[in-house]
Amino acid sequence: MSHNLEAHNLDEEALAILKKNDRGGFTIPTARLYPFQWNWDSAFIAIGLATFDQDRAWRELELLVEGQARDGMIPHIIFRKDDSDYFPGPSVWQTNGGGLSASGISQPPVLASVVAKFAQEQGEGSLDRAAALFDAMLAWHRWWHRDRTPDGCPVVCTVHPWETGRDNCPDWNIGMNNMAIDPQLEAYQRKDIEHADPSQRPSHEQYDKYITIVKFGRDHGWDQKVLTNDGPFLMADPGIFFILLRADRDLLWLARKLGKDVAAAEIEGWIADAEANADYFWNADVGAYCARDVRTGEFSEGFSNASALCFYAGIKDQTRLASTIAHMKRIAAKTRFGQSSWDPDLASFESQRYWCGPLWCQMNYMIAAGLAEHGETDMADKMRDDLRSVIELSGFYECFDPVDGSGCIGTDFSWTAALWLAWASPSSVAPTASGQEAANGLN
Ligand code: GLC
Repeated sequence: MSHNLEAHNLDEEALAILKKNDRGGFTIPTARLYPFQWNWDSAFIAIGLATFDQDRAWRELELLVEGQARDGMIPHIIFRKDDSDYFPGPSVWQTNGGGLSASGISQPPVLASVVAKFAQEQGEGSLDRAAALFDAMLAWHRWWHRDRTPDGCPVVCTVHPWETGRDNCPDWNIGMNNMAIDPQLEAYQRKDIEHADPSQRPSHEQYDKYITIVKFGRDHGWDQKVLTNDGPFLMADPGIFFILLRADRDLLWLARKLGKDVAAAEIEGWIADAEANADYFWNADVGAYCARDVRTGEFSEGFSNASALCFYAGIKDQTRLASTIAHMKRIAAKTRFGQSSWDPDLASFESQRYWCGPLWCQMNYMIAAGLAEHGETDMADKMRDDLRSVIELSGFYECFDPVDGSGCIGTDFSWTAALWLAWASPSSVAPTASGQEAANGLN
């Protein structure tokens, strides 16, 4: 079979996956393992949908925003209705924040960057739809800066590994070790290990801690400020920090485009604060931006794929960027495909375990966008080519072993299909090298 024919078939397969996972205006990540709408998944899925149906792509984002709580948070999962295949479902979260039935934590705020990208690519005609989402996005960013920034801490934080989207990355070990399992924790039955290989999923002890945090939120009526200041887990994540900084820049672009001067001034303040405090994450021992336990000040020891998002965030410290590139080159020499989620030189690296090593397409997409804007087009293009290779080799998995390219965990995965269509496929029209020309938007 010729390469082009294979690529053509993969385009068709990707389209079929997005259609199959469509639940009427929103797209689930994959059937059974993740049967609801997930926050940042939808943002990346919309990028893929826009390659063949712009209206449906906007719809994906509009339905995500429908889940917004009264305090501005856009939740990490929007349930709409229960599904016995999933734990923890709405009866465990018991949120009461308005909006739709949803979880009580958020996920990395990619949304505004996708809206800005669409507004740039689709021209003036798309501005009405972008404008209709503007207030919701502003309220959500304000929520991060107000409710997820603990008193006395200079940067935005997170209260749950699931909120980071990098669920059981070893980055969270310090925070998890510093917390206790609630002795009153109700008995529960995991569903994830019925749908995926348990050796690639989190341990039972980790799961008990995840549910302990949910119980704390529930016991405190989902008062997010209390959960942030007094909850069992409090870490600062370079992933959320860099993604939010980038999204703030993209929201600022949109605010100016829409003539929203008051909002623009508020956003400028957030950006200035973040730029002034990025060094909070700088782990001088490692020479990289790393996660940190806020209460003890302790740094995570590892270079993760979130460390590599500093370019995407528009960080300009050349010494720190050079050190980051040196790490990426060291890691690339040890793995074969793309940016792994964890450092292969550490004992905690596992090439196929959930966030302890695998390559994730959405992280590689953002990292490459940042590298291209920084002028590192060869590295950016290699990330795209590597994603193409692993998908050609293994198909549309949730993530991939960065050493041998085999597919891991969920199959028929929506964001993998979406980013194939928008980026990795030979027929996609958005080489990362063109990222240079746009100052804003996720290119
Ligand atoms: C897993 C991932 C998370 C993703 C979700 C749905 O929980 O860690 O990032 O959003 O699956 O795909």
